[in-house]
Amino acid sequence: MKNSMKILVMGSGGREHAIAWRLAACESVETIYAAPGNPGIARVAECLSPGGSTPDHYLNLATELGVDLTVVGPEAPLVAGVVDAFRARGLRIVGPTRAAAQLEGSKVFAKQFMARAGIPTARSVTVDNVEDARKQLGAFGYPVVLKADGLAAGKGVIIAQSKAEAEQALGGLLSGTLVGTAGSRVVIEEFLAGEEVSFISLCDGKNAVALLPTQDHKAVFDGDRGPNTGGMGAYCDSRILDETMTWRIMDTVVQPTVNCMAAEGAPFTGFLYAGLMMTADGPKVLEFNVRLGDPETQPIMLRMQGDFAAVLAGEAAPAWTSDPSVCVVLAAAGYPGKPRAGDVISGIEEAEAGGATVFQAGTRMGTSGLETSGGRVLGVTAPGATLQQAIAKAYAAVGHIHFEGAHYRNDIGAKGLKRWAD
Ligand code: AMP
Ligand code: GLY
Repeated sequence: MKNSMKILVMGSGGREHAIAWRLAACESVETIYAAPGNPGIARVAECLSPGGSTPDHYLNLATELGVDLTVVGPEAPLVAGVVDAFRARGLRIVGPTRAAAQLEGSKVFAKQFMARAGIPTARSVTVDNVEDARKQLGAFGYPVVLKADGLAAGKGVIIAQSKAEAEQALGGLLSGTLVGTAGSRVVIEEFLAGEEVSFISLCDGKNAVALLPTQDHKAVFDGDRGPNTGGMGAYCDSRILDETMTWRIMDTVVQPTVNCMAAEGAPFTGFLYAGLMMTADGPKVLEFNVRLGDPETQPIMLRMQGDFAAVLAGEAAPAWTSDPSVCVVLAAAGYPGKPRAGDVISGIEEAEAGGATVFQAGTRMGTSGLETSGGRVLGVTAPGATLQQAIAKAYAAVGHIHFEGAHYRNDIGAKGLKRWAD
């Protein structure tokens, strides 16, 4: 690997800000570009418009800039085949091909794949019409989980508490009123109880190396109440999984996935995110994502040491600080419904003065300075000698930030504190 890398980061969220921020600290990196980026990313990278969202738009940009390596943040370009397009032109890119991205792009594909590969997951059936769906529902208890097959921006999973609720949701999904064509096939799945863990590995088609485990907070309100979001915060603490459990997950989930994808002619390269439920029967896969998580990446990047660019190039293993880290997401008024844009943001500098890092997601520059432009606006991220200290530092930083309508959870990391009482 040369020592003056030009790297392109695709995307515009908090995850991409954290990636670019970490790359900016790498000796081997000379220039970071982001497409399209955001005002926070612009602090560490040159932000450019790709001029469109197809693989060719990004390919043309990367070629023009002469980048050495491209990292893809979100799933949509991966599912659209951006990795295939880059590789066909001999460009290096971190991510799965279109065929391998089906693990996230189609829940039906993922469930059938897990059955073939013997990967532990919830019992399920797939349906494509209401009549069959009603019949199949009889084989499940309540609550029951209904999942739209296709990408639905986090809105495709419904946990129904009763038969009436399930039938109504199935009708909405299958008819297209809830999530459009993404719901033309639906997975009906048994409800699993337990704690969730986000387990992300970097894969090269044959081998996988795990990043640190994190726990996301999907529900919008404290105590895991209210509708699901993309994630209201996450913490990264090595105690989330002990070594035995980490190896069990590598042996029963990650490596079998990599092996079976390769055997089926779609080797998995890039970040494989296994959303796990830690059940009484062991870890089971709730979902695969084919990218880094958001907001999980923010606390993970805070703990990464060494040269991330070398890790991405497959030339070094990731190294970590031992201190836990916490990311609290500040969301805009209205989120997870339609978020309000245009609220002026203040206090980021003050928040960072105390040692937190504020990753930007839904922000833009307006006439009065930085303002909101999306649902999840900021990810206030801090390390601490203990989880408790990291939480205290993150919330102290949150206290400095203001925008009209801002809301956040007050209990990010609380489950960890309770588990370990530290
Ligand atoms: P998914 O997009 O499949 O990860 O689903 C979104 C969220 O729904 C997950 O993070 C879980 O909180 C919940 N969920 C999904 N599948 C199940 C399941 N089988 N049992 C319980 N909760 C689930
Ligand atoms: N935080 C969940 C995700 O990235 O899918």
